Amino acid sequence: MSEGALSARISDAPGDPIFGIVELHRADARPHKINLAAGVYMDEQGVTPILPSVRTAEERLLASTTSKLYMPISGDPAYLAAAKSLLFRTVGGAWGEIEPAATDCVQMIHTPGGTGAVRLAVDVVSRLRPGAEIWVGEPTWPNHTQIIESSRITARRHDWITDDARSLNTSALFDAIAAAKGGDAMILHGACHNPTGIDPTPEQWGEIAKQIAHRGILPILDFAYQGFGDGLIEDAASLRAFLATGSEALVASSSSKNFALYNERVGSLAIIGADAAAASSIASHARMAVRTMWSNPPAHGGAIVSTILGDATLRAQWEGEVSAMRTRITESRTTFAAALTAAGAGDFSYLLDHHGMFSLLGLTDDQLKRLRDEHAVYLVARGRINMAGLSAAKIPIVAKAVASVLA
Ligand code: LMR
Repeated sequence: MSEGALSARISDAPGDPIFGIVELHRADARPHKINLAAGVYMDEQGVTPILPSVRTAEERLLASTTSKLYMPISGDPAYLAAAKSLLFRTVGGAWGEIEPAATDCVQMIHTPGGTGAVRLAVDVVSRLRPGAEIWVGEPTWPNHTQIIESSRITARRHDWITDDARSLNTSALFDAIAAAKGGDAMILHGACHNPTGIDPTPEQWGEIAKQIAHRGILPILDFAYQGFGDGLIEDAASLRAFLATGSEALVASSSSKNFALYNERVGSLAIIGADAAAASSIASHARMAVRTMWSNPPAHGGAIVSTILGDATLRAQWEGEVSAMRTRITESRTTFAAALTAAGAGDFSYLLDHHGMFSLLGLTDDQLKRLRDEHAVYLVARGRINMAGLSAAKIPIVAKAVASVLA
């Protein structure tokens, strides 16, 4: 091998902390294997269905789409308008009524999924705030630190949860806000924290937003699970708290989960400026970044979302589908916590306080390996479990497996 070969001085990169486990599950030939690794919704049969509202929208699109022409760099205007209405809808307002502060001071960019939006947000920081560091509360979605480090930015870590992994570590969070330099950025999960399920209350969001604005830190809200916590509007309390400060913020949102459009790769970055001119200027730099990364986004997912949200009947149907997914996830949490206790694993009632798809069971790497090897049950680091992958049939099996590795 020549000295200059790409592979000359390297060993293999590690597997992805989430999709790497999904691959192990895929390669497992045991028919009873259970995948609770990736954050995807599954029904009682273990299927991740296409939502009926999405099916209807796709039928309409098949009949009406006439071209596959490139979109603008910032994406499909219809999708962007729909995504903005969903993010910034006023509490108690009709569809289309958005928070007044968002009317002029928000610019939207259509991205390939929520990951594309987070990547774009971090790229904007590296372009416009050279030298800034980005703070993350650990544990966090492992791709946050991977994205920050891929952008050659230093990731600064603080604790998100208390030592018993059961509640929010507010003092660590406020200490980090006090320690950050003005101009640094901080990634926060808008709702349904991944991997802990531990979210601030709306009152805590108000205080967090105030302190962050006061210190001149740029908040990057990763808002991938809107609708899976308390409701589509309720879950945006974090976003409204940051909007109310009148300071800049970036909001990465995803249609992967609430529209179940995982493989269509559709999401958006909302750029909140201190005023309309600032938002528009930041967006011009974001478009430069987009042009060098994906040029312009894939169209189909965004067209599905704007078709659904643009039709009152389809939108109401979709809201019902989101609320059915949320109810099922919450019911699985309750049944699973009880099943763990019944299986002798101890008291897991803290799981009922958490929001969204995930919680940590607090398992070690050895225990996770035993779960895979002895029970064919696949979870992510620290025992992150995807509650949306459980079913009535799987719950007792997984609970017994967890109890046996904890014994
Ligand atoms: C997850 O956390 O499992 C999902 O957000 C999928 C992903 O991209 O990691």
